[in-house]
Amino acid sequence: MEQEVVTLLSRRELDKMRRAGRLAAELLHHLEPMVQPGVSTLEINDEAERWTQAHGAKSAPLGYHGYPKSICTSVNEVVCHGIPNAKQILRTGDIINVDVTLILDGYHGDTSKTFLVGQPSPTAQRLVEVTEKCLYLGIAEVKPGARIGDIGAAIQNYAEPQGFSVVRDFVGHGISHIFHTAPQVPHYGKRGTGLKLRPGMVFTIEPMINEGTHEVKVLKDKWTAITRDRKLSAQFEHTIAVTEEGVEILTSLEATVLA
Ligand code: MF3
Ligand code: CO
Ligand code: CO
Repeated sequence: MEQEVVTLLSRRELDKMRRAGRLAAELLHHLEPMVQPGVSTLEINDEAERWTQAHGAKSAPLGYHGYPKSICTSVNEVVCHGIPNAKQILRTGDIINVDVTLILDGYHGDTSKTFLVGQPSPTAQRLVEVTEKCLYLGIAEVKPGARIGDIGAAIQNYAEPQGFSVVRDFVGHGISHIFHTAPQVPHYGKRGTGLKLRPGMVFTIEPMINEGTHEVKVLKDKWTAITRDRKLSAQFEHTIAVTEEGVEILTSLEATVLA
């Protein structure tokens, strides 16, 4: 993390985060119909880069700590940070997380979904459903006065009884003009512990849920994180803001941005 102190965003900054978040949601929505058998992960990447530039924004991952592409495409046993590749062709039965982060007017919008390619196994479908539910259960905990541990507890208490595990090595993060900053947002933990949430805090919730062990391993490319047991992993992500009323999802398609 680049800084330890959790900053509260001003109204002006929050408005920029809304615009960036909304555009990131639109990008992910735009890419969704491309996710089909026969398409390469590089084709999805290249369309993301083209669309992002055409909308006056910048891809945040490209060049970030040396990351070589514009989005992350994490297929099957890949937990996160899968690098798009021309030789990686989607096949029916795959699951793929597409994670986009763009910068608009200096502020970041970060969101991802796991898509089904053709018809994956019942277990794969259940993993994806449970993971999406984990994201929304985490979001539902967010309001002023709640603790960061409430988010992880809600996720862990839902995923584990179903036989799945929660990844620990990667967490959600504060985000604003900086891509990854404080606070860290674990997707496991204890209710009533950790940072107290306050209006103006903005961070991601991005649970990675595994079919088998929670343990991950990073490949020699220094980015691709896979499950140690090579079983499936799924992920969903939103960028959210703590508001006086509770929570606002900044990377929702439904979010209205006043002109
Ligand atoms: N979008 C990822 C996240 O949710 C980060 C990708 S960083 C990259 O935090 F360099 F791997 F692209
Ligand atoms: Co993120
Ligand atoms: Co992301």
